[in-house]
Amino acid sequence: MRILITAGPTREYIDPVRYLSNESSGKMGFALAAAAKRRGHQVTLIAGPVCLATPKGVERIDVVSAREMLAVLRERFKDSDALIMAAAVADFRPRRRLRGKWKAKEDGGDPSIDLVENPDLLKTVARRKGERKVVAFALETSQGKRRARAKMAAKNADWIVLNGAEALGGDRTSVTLMDRAGNELELLDRAKVQVARVVIGLLE
Ligand code: CTP
Repeated sequence: MRILITAGPTREYIDPVRYLSNESSGKMGFALAAAAKRRGHQVTLIAGPVCLATPKGVERIDVVSAREMLAVLRERFKDSDALIMAAAVADFRPRRRLRGKWKAKEDGGDPSIDLVENPDLLKTVARRKGERKVVAFALETSQGKRRARAKMAAKNADWIVLNGAEALGGDRTSVTLMDRAGNELELLDRAKVQVARVVIGLLE
C-alpha cells in the first residue's frame, strides 16, 4: 500500500523568532512510518519541526505550519491508499506574522495575540476519501472516549487512536484504538513501535 503519515507539531509564527506550537515529539508518527516500511509498504512521511532521523526507505517531506502541511497533504493524499494523521496540528495561528520582532513592551499595556482558526486538515482531505483508509489520533485529558468517537465521525476517519498527555515525548504510550463499529482495543504501557505495528495491521 501507499501510506501517507503526518507527524510532529506544527509551528505558527508570530514574528521571525517566536511561534505557537505544542509538545508533540513526532515519535509516534515516525514509529508508524518505520513500521509501515518494515511491512513492505511505500511510505511518505509529512513531518512538522522535530529532531528525529528519517526511517530508512521512507520519503520525508518537512513542513512548518498547518497550512503548509495541508498543501502537501492535498497533493499526496490523491495517490495514497491510506492516511494516518498522527500530527498535532495547531488549531489556531496568529492573524499576522510580523516581519520584524514584536516589541510588545514598547507597545505598552497588556500584550495580546490576535488568533484565527487553522483549517481542519483531516476533515478537509478525508471528506471525499472514497475507498481510502484513514486513521485519526485524539489526545484528550478528560472524557476521552466520548470525544474521540465524536472526532472520528466528524473527521470521517475509519479508526481513531486515543491517547493522553502522558504519551507526549516518551517512547511508551497507552492508547485505545476505536473503530466506527464500536470496537475498542486497549494497549497499556506499550512501546510506541509496538503500537505502531498494531495500527499498521489495521490497514492491511
Ligand atoms: N487535526 C487536523 N487538523 C487540525 C486539528 C487536528 O487534521 N486543525 C487532526 C489531528 O492530526 C488528529 C485529529 O485531527 O488526527 C484530532 O486532533 P485533535 O487536536 O485531538 O482534535 P481537534 O479537532 O483539534 O480538537 P481539540 O479541540 O480537542 O484540540
